[in-house]
Amino acid sequence: MPRCRELTHGGLTLTVLDTRTPSRAQPSVARSVRRRDYVMCAPEHFRVAYTINPWMDAADPIDVGRARLQWEVLRNTYLSLGHRVDLVEPMPGQPDMVFAANGGLVVGGRAYGAKFRFPERAAEGAAYADWLRRRGVDVAEPTHTNEGEGDFLALGPMIIAGTGFRTSLEAHIEAASVLDRPVVSLELVDPRFYHLDTAVAVLDDGNGPAPADIAYYPAAFSRHSQRTLRDLFPHAICCSEDDARVLGLNAVSDGHHVVLPSAATGLAGSLRERGYTPVPVDLSEFIKSGGSVKCCTMEMHR
Ligand code: ARG
Repeated sequence: MPRCRELTHGGLTLTVLDTRTPSRAQPSVARSVRRRDYVMCAPEHFRVAYTINPWMDAADPIDVGRARLQWEVLRNTYLSLGHRVDLVEPMPGQPDMVFAANGGLVVGGRAYGAKFRFPERAAEGAAYADWLRRRGVDVAEPTHTNEGEGDFLALGPMIIAGTGFRTSLEAHIEAASVLDRPVVSLELVDPRFYHLDTAVAVLDDGNGPAPADIAYYPAAFSRHSQRTLRDLFPHAICCSEDDARVLGLNAVSDGHHVVLPSAATGLAGSLRERGYTPVPVDLSEFIKSGGSVKCCTMEMHR
């Protein structure tokens, strides 16, 4: 099981994969599934029409038919695992609206609405907020820039939040006050991992019998945030660069099944050792826009 350790050299401390001991299965905790409510948005208008992250390259166009199929497989995967999937109506002219995770953060019947960093995605904020309101969710209007579950991950009683590329620190404070939960801020430093959900996967949210559990890619974070993660989650899975750069951490877990990009084979092995069941899906068309499984999925956390 890959774990993190610190290497100190000449006053510099690095977090690296601990390769000193052969990987050994940890006493595995019993994993338990909880039925989830997911929200998705069909890739009707999905394109790479602009460049707002290093993955997007207009010269590498999306195969629209393939994207649709891959998205259907993801949706059917959730349904066959027994989860609920609600669909938001895609809006013409919003090619990134398929990334439903960015539409807001819903916890306990209340939501903190999204306010996108780039004007290209601005219209999505109101569209998701309206949809949530129609479902009876009380949506707080954001005054600060934040991209929903792209940068906010609900974990037990708290929320871990990313900043550095999209969501502002002010939004972390706003989310804490609106949702009345503690928010732990983490600083992202590698532009390839511009949203928190590209650098951290929540494996167990800690709301069931097992403790909260995550996997993360340390080098995506500043040194002080690496320390925060180490202190809060000393037993976390440390993801390799190979798995991180296929967006392996952009995964969705129901507490037992972890739906993740199929290219993240190393991470899938670590999950298995820890008692999870990896469910690999191919979302290769979506990675061209900097997204994968989690990006396509908003969870309505109860
Ligand atoms: N092209 C989109 C953007 O750059 C991808 C969003 C991915 N979403 C996520 N939750 N990480 O905004």
